[in-house]
Amino acid sequence: MTTGENIVGDVFSAGAREFHSWSRVLWDPVGEVTAEAAGLTGGESVLDACCGAGASALPAARAVGAASRVDAVDLADGLLAIGERRAREEGLAHLRFHRHEVTSWPAPGPGYDVVQCGLGVFFFPDMDRDSAALTRMLRPGGRFVVTVWEKGALGGWQAALRGAVLTQRDLPRPPQMDQLARIDTAGALAAWLTDLGGSQPRVGRRRFEAPLSPETGWAPATGSGTRRMLDGLSPAAVERVRAEFTARLTADSVTDLDVRALTGTTRFPG
Ligand SMILES: C[S@@+](CC[C@H](N)C(=O)[O-])C[C@H]1O[C@@H](n2cnc3c(N)ncnc32)[C@H](O)[C@@H]1O
Repeated sequence: MTTGENIVGDVFSAGAREFHSWSRVLWDPVGEVTAEAAGLTGGESVLDACCGAGASALPAARAVGAASRVDAVDLADGLLAIGERRAREEGLAHLRFHRHEVTSWPAPGPGYDVVQCGLGVFFFPDMDRDSAALTRMLRPGGRFVVTVWEKGALGGWQAALRGAVLTQRDLPRPPQMDQLARIDTAGALAAWLTDLGGSQPRVGRRRFEAPLSPETGWAPATGSGTRRMLDGLSPAAVERVRAEFTARLTADSVTDLDVRALTGTTRFPG
């Protein structure tokens, strides 16, 4: 599909329409939880890292108010355009979307009150090093908030998709799955935040219903990081994957995405 340093951004950009078709049911509810965990108050400055279409940046901008600054940063042009439109429709002029590699984002001198990252850290090339870079964008005493999938999340849907793709090609385990596996329980996420230098991390767990049918289940497959599984397949092979995936969802009675999110919040003394 794409090559070069911006692979993850290009993958999400190419699937932007399909991604956004799940905003209301999936991304926005998880984003609300991220912003809620940040405990934002009026006037605070926020960096929303890996902002996508604004799922957590929009509620953060509502919470801090017009006199503050919210920078939403991502590499996926297609998602940034959707986020910009949504902010404009709500009149949130203080929420600005930027296309940038977030780990090298030029943070303002004093640092942000809050850096939040929803469903993003496990996509970084080096999750520890790159997340540490985000924490250095905080002011002393600032809060770092990370939302990740909990172990078992999206299980039936993901098994159907991987099984279907494997009928057409080999599928090496993607590095983000290994990174996520290090922080996908409450204890592991808290320990990881402590190792990063955070103090007294708190972790919250949330589960959502996100009903899917064999027809609607395909959109998140092509509108998220899993889109990469289809890289290099011919259109006919993609159609075969889709048919097999649909059949597996039906056979396995997968009727819900089984959304489980963990949100970790910690303070960085600086
Ligand atoms: C699963 S999406 C989550 C988007 C959004 N936070 C949400 O919850 O709806 C992950 C996002 O991380 C972005 N991303 C991954 N690595 C990035 C990086 N190094 N710099 C900026 N954005 C990145 C991708 O482009 C994608 O939009």
